Amino acid sequence: MSETQYERESSREVGGATLRVVLGNIVGQHVDVIVNAANSSLLGGGGVDGAIHRTGGPDILEACRAIRARQGKCAPGQAVITPAGRLHAEHVVHTVGPVWRGGESGEPDLLRSAYSESFARAREAGARTIAFPSISTGAYRYPFRDATEVALATARAELAAHPDAFDEVRFVAFSARDFMIYQEVLEGT
Ligand code: APR
Repeated sequence: MSETQYERESSREVGGATLRVVLGNIVGQHVDVIVNAANSSLLGGGGVDGAIHRTGGPDILEACRAIRARQGKCAPGQAVITPAGRLHAEHVVHTVGPVWRGGESGEPDLLRSAYSESFARAREAGARTIAFPSISTGAYRYPFRDATEVALATARAELAAHPDAFDEVRFVAFSARDFMIYQEVLEGT
């Protein structure tokens, strides 16, 4: 699958890196790191998790099992890194976002941590490009616009703190509606 020419994209230059939003599928991204919206078991699931394991193949699950055996479950807000199997990436970073419980149970901090820990694993691996799905906004029911504001604010903070770490940070919207919200938050409208 060649890198698709996106039917929709929007980008901003931030501290020497490109913050980009595209409409597409996380498994079609050609980047150094693809981020997975995992659960604490690290043993797969539906949505993004299902697509990544289905497309990436068994090597990813095998690596996740080894991490489970070594360190146990992945807590919300944490992130681990594995090979990317058949995906067009070097690594997959598996992060666990918070389940939305109304916003008073520390969800924003946990979501921020899921993004910042994903950036940390990618930096440790020497990644120059990274693609994120919209963590926690599906099965975990985090309100989309609130989550997008956390995602983009965290990306801007990461790029400011590590100005030469990345060439591109990509956010992959799975629907036209989601793309529009990302674009509005990115462009500050
Ligand atoms: N590419 C890009 N985005 C996708 C894709 C895809 N292939 N599939 C789903 N999405 C979008 C959803 O529309 C949603 O906006 O990704 C966002 C995250 O949805 P989920 O995958 O449900 O992730 P999350 O809300 O973090 O819930 C994680 O779901 O799949 C299980 O094992 C996973 O238990 C974990 C939970």
